[in-house]
Amino acid sequence: MKAIRYHQVGGPEVLRWEDVPEPTPGPGEVLLRVHAAGVNFADTERRRGLYDAQAPLPRILGSEAAGVVSAVGPGVDAKWVGRRVVALTKESYAELARASVDELLELPPEVSFAQAAALLVQGLTAYHVVHTVGRVEAGQTVLVHAAAGGVGLLAVQLVKAAGARVIGTVSGEAKAKLARDVGADDIVRYDQEDVAARVLSLTQGRGVERVLDSVGASTWQASVDALAPFGQLVSYGNASGPPPHVEVESLYAKSLTVSAYWLRTPTPPEVQRRAREALLAEVVAKRLRVVVGLSLPLAQAEEAHRKLEGRDTVGKVVLLGEG
Ligand SMILES: NC(=O)c1ccc[n+]([C@@H]2O[C@H](COP(=O)([O-])OP(=O)(O)OC[C@H]3O[C@@H](n4cnc5c(N)ncnc54)[C@H](OP(=O)(O)O)[C@@H]3O)[C@@H](O)[C@H]2O)c1
Repeated sequence: MKAIRYHQVGGPEVLRWEDVPEPTPGPGEVLLRVHAAGVNFADTERRRGLYDAQAPLPRILGSEAAGVVSAVGPGVDAKWVGRRVVALTKESYAELARASVDELLELPPEVSFAQAAALLVQGLTAYHVVHTVGRVEAGQTVLVHAAAGGVGLLAVQLVKAAGARVIGTVSGEAKAKLARDVGADDIVRYDQEDVAARVLSLTQGRGVERVLDSVGASTWQASVDALAPFGQLVSYGNASGPPPHVEVESLYAKSLTVSAYWLRTPTPPEVQRRAREALLAEVVAKRLRVVVGLSLPLAQAEEAHRKLEGRDTVGKVVLLGEG
């Protein structure tokens, strides 16, 4: 089969479309013909050697795949063959990928493979930063950074659905419009404006109860300054570089909480199942809009990475298999 691999870390040009051995599903696993492989910001960080740097090379990227089950491994019911599914998996920038049968989420016909690819890494992250860690409640105001991104657009909608007000940050007018379209009440152009000053003015000087921060270095101080007393900053990404070290003393004046979220934190299976099923049900009911901002053939992963790390994408980026 063909897959996207890199043999050394570096820029998008290290990604090569090449022949690799076909994977074989092991016990408890299925083989998927990949129709849509999700691209995530962390893939660009892995490729640059900034994250997961100990993984052996050459390496196939990809943490999620939507497709059709083409074979089952030992101990797996053959009824899965032919079903449309999505799963968190490894090495999904490929024509075929293995997935654990316990990870499979079956797709109803009205959900496309590309939409489904947005529901796991990005959907689960949005769900857990809003609900599990942030515990967002009706009546609160939440600052969502990178609000037009893959996680961002979903987080905006989940915060709104919880009954809270959203202030989103974005670069560029097109991103501002999209974030508003999915429900953001106010937008701050963090490429042009002083974020903390604008947030304080939008909240009559009070600040926000929650900040969802995936940008890190360049937003950190504004995030802290924009928080209301007893507010909480949920850090879940470093798109602009790692945030500074946090001095606990600096949190006292406003009695602030700083929390983190990582998708790989061991999570009770029933919590994860509930989150996946809730996200899928919301998409089916058309209450949660998945914006697929860019889809390219698998072979063009280099272009997808270039655009994603160049801040030139909105919503979900997917690589399409031929299946
Ligand atoms: N903790 C976890 O388990 C977890 C899971 C999934 C994702 N994440 C993190 O969540 C964030 C969003 O992931 P995503 O896949 O949905 O990506 P994304 O938000 O679609 O893309 C990243 C966005 O970050 C913004 N950004 C701000 N400064 C940037 C910079 N210096 N370089 C590049 N982008 C910058 C850009 O939006 P603007 O142009 O509007 O600034 C860009 O579009 C990433 O930091 C990712 O690592 C964490």
